[in-house]
Formats: sequence, structure tokens, C-alpha cells
Amino acid sequence: MSCISCPISLYSPASVARNSAISSRSKSKPFAIRCTVGEYIEAPKVASVTEPLLLNAVRGEKVERPPVWLMRQAGRYMKSYQLLCEKYPSFRERSENVDLVVEISLQPWKVFRPDGVILFSDILTPLPGMNIPFDIVKGKGPVIYSPIRTADDVAQVREFVPEESVPYVGEALTILREEVKSDAAVLGFVGAPFTLASYVVEGGSSKHFTKIKRLAFSQPQVLHSLLQKFTNSMAEYIKYQADNGAQAVQIFDSWATELSPVDFEEFSLPYLKQIVDSVKKTHPDLPLILYASGSGGLLERLPSTGVDVVSLDWTVDMAEGRRRLGSDIAVQGNVDPGVLFGSTEFITERINDTVRKAGSSKHILNLGHGIVVGTPEENVAHFFEVAKGIRY
Ligand code: CP3
Repeated sequence: MSCISCPISLYSPASVARNSAISSRSKSKPFAIRCTVGEYIEAPKVASVTEPLLLNAVRGEKVERPPVWLMRQAGRYMKSYQLLCEKYPSFRERSENVDLVVEISLQPWKVFRPDGVILFSDILTPLPGMNIPFDIVKGKGPVIYSPIRTADDVAQVREFVPEESVPYVGEALTILREEVKSDAAVLGFVGAPFTLASYVVEGGSSKHFTKIKRLAFSQPQVLHSLLQKFTNSMAEYIKYQADNGAQAVQIFDSWATELSPVDFEEFSLPYLKQIVDSVKKTHPDLPLILYASGSGGLLERLPSTGVDVVSLDWTVDMAEGRRRLGSDIAVQGNVDPGVLFGSTEFITERINDTVRKAGSSKHILNLGHGIVVGTPEENVAHFFEVAKGIRY
């Protein structure tokens, strides 16, 4: 059993100085980490210097601090993004033009130097290539013009061929790799089948998910055939992203947790497993991260998908999450995005609390969900400064 609470030194100039001596000493001989609860965990392998910190951390290698990036780190809270939106008001254009995708993905990289640079895109980007037109309308969010609700509608859905439909994604990922070199990991992402299905059945965002639940609970075979199409398509999309430069890929299942556990086991879990199995066959070393917001009631089920990292939202205590997920899997998260509206001292405190609870191995520091519009940029800068000053 591993421990969840290790005596790591968190951010303060004194602790950084103290621990640089510890880390240089510990490089020469393997050691076990003594945990406050009195148990030992296996000594991590020594990290590769040529690989980005994030990949080393996911593999359980010895790292000096947790890697850090933020979900939605590129976006509307940044002045530079707002200015670009004035010039290019269409979300589809911003996310489908190679130069704009690269420029926007690099905006947070240039300012904050995160350890992960996520492609600027959307989980809905593959939809037109599957014969499902959509747009993202200011003030309204995603809009699916012809929602999918019948067997005939599902029959019209095409499986996705990324190199034909979204060549700009591959090109952008390749350029991002050249830009960030091994200083950060380039991250790709996809939507999970149930979450994508919820958008296309509901016709956009939804509060009560009544349309997809009506379909699930009255014509489950129709929903299953739609989910299967998304499963095949997203497995191919992940492989395509990896082949073009993504070094880890996050699967967003933002809405599966609207399902009760028994329905999650029918309509989401088997498809996530299929995606992971398919990707691992051809890309066994590609780390896969699963984010399912509101998954506190489902945590024990998530490692069975086969993903390498589970991204926790902030409603789960990090120490409890670690314990419930088991020690083999890496964790990501999970500071409340709302904390970034607090004082700098409060932000520091919450980062330290999360890092202490996650322990000194297999943790990617992140928020528990995407940055909220209106978050002060200087607080985001503070978050990264504190995070990057941490030494285990
Ligand atoms: O993290 C990043 O920086 C990468 C970019 C990214 C976007 N969307 C850009 C975007 C990522 C990873 C996503 C994923 C995404 N898209 C999810 C899963 C993550 C989550 O939040 O649970 C979901 C559910 C979507 C669907 C979607 N796209 C929504 C709900 C919205 C917001 C609509 C609104 O107007 O508030 C979008 C649009 C979108 N995608 C924005 C961004 C930055 C905001 C609109 C804009 O910038 O013009």
C-alpha cells in the first residue's frame, strides 16, 4: 500500500534552498520515501532529462516537483485571446486555422511556461467530419443544427477520418512540438463518447439531459450504435494526434457523471475501455488522461478503463482520491478553479495542500476543471510561480 501524505517541502524560498541539497544528494542512491503515516513507498525510477517533466511524472519516475498545466489555460480570461477574438470572431475559424490554433495554444505558454501545452481546439471539432454540423455561438455555447435522435439519424453519422477532415490539427500539433521542444509536453484531447453523444442528441448544452436519457432509457440500441461510432472515431483521432506530435492525450467525459453508476457502466465505461484498449495496441507508451467531472461517486470504477492518469475535480479530497484510486495510477488536479479568485496567500495555501495530499510521485498539478472566464491573469501567473517553485 502506498501512502498519501509525504513530508515534502512546499513552496517557500527557504524550503527550496533546503531541498536542492536533498535532491542533489538523493540523485546518487535510490531511496524510499518515508511517509508521515509511517509506511514506505517504492523509490521512483530516476527521471529522464530529455523528456518533458510531465511524461516522467506520469511514468512514476523521480521528479523534483509536480508538473503543472491548467485546463482551458488558453482562452477568454487572457487579454491576448480577447484581442484575437475581436479580429477573428468565429470560434470555428480560431480553432480550424493552423496559424491561429498554434498562436492561441502558445499564448499561455509564452506567459506562464506550463509543463503541458494543450492544443487549442474543441471536443466538438470532429463533428463536421462525421456529418454533424455545429457552431459555437457567443452567449449560447455549442449548437448542433440537426440533433441526432433516431436510428435513421445515427445511420447518417460517418466515422471520422482525421487526416481527411482535420488536417490542421495534425499540422498544428507538429508545429507545437517544434516550438516547445522538450521544455513541455504537447497535449492532445478528445471528447468521450457519452459526452459527445449528449451534445449531438440534446442539440447543445443541457441542464437535465432529458433527450439523451429518453433515448438511453427507451431505445438503448440506438444510443449504443451512436456511442460505438464515436468510440471508433475517437480511438482513431487519439492515434492521429499521437502520430502528429501529441505526447499525451486527455479524454474529457464531462457529462457521463450525469448518469447513475449503473448507467455509467452501460453507456460510458465500456466505450472508454474500448478506446483505451484500441490505442494501447498501437501506442502502448502514450499516456492517456481521463477527466470526468463530478466523478466522486464513480472513482473506483475509473482505473478499470486502463487510463494512465485520472483527473480529479475539486469535490474530491486529493488524499481520499489517491486512496480510492490505488497507487498504480497517476492523478491530476484538483484545485477549485474558484480559488484563482482568492488572495495570493490563499492560492499558495491551496496549491500546497493539494501537492502535499497527492504525494511526491505520479501527480500532475492542475485545476479541478477549466479556468473560469474573468479569472485574473495575475493570479494565474501566481499559481504557476508557486507551482514551479515547489520541491519535493
Ligand atoms: O484546455 C484548453 O485550453 C484547450 C481548449 C479547449 C476548449 N474546449 C476551447 C474552448 C478544450 C480542452 C475544450 C474541451 C471542451 N469543450 C469540453 C470538455 C471540458 C469541460 O469543460 O468539461 C466541453 C464540454 C466542450 C464544449 C464546449 N465548447 C463548451 C461547453 C464551450 C463553452 C461555451 C461558452 O460560450 O461558454 C465551448 C467553447 C469553447 N471551447 C471555448 C474555449 C476556450 C469558449 C468560447 C470561446 O473562447 O470563444
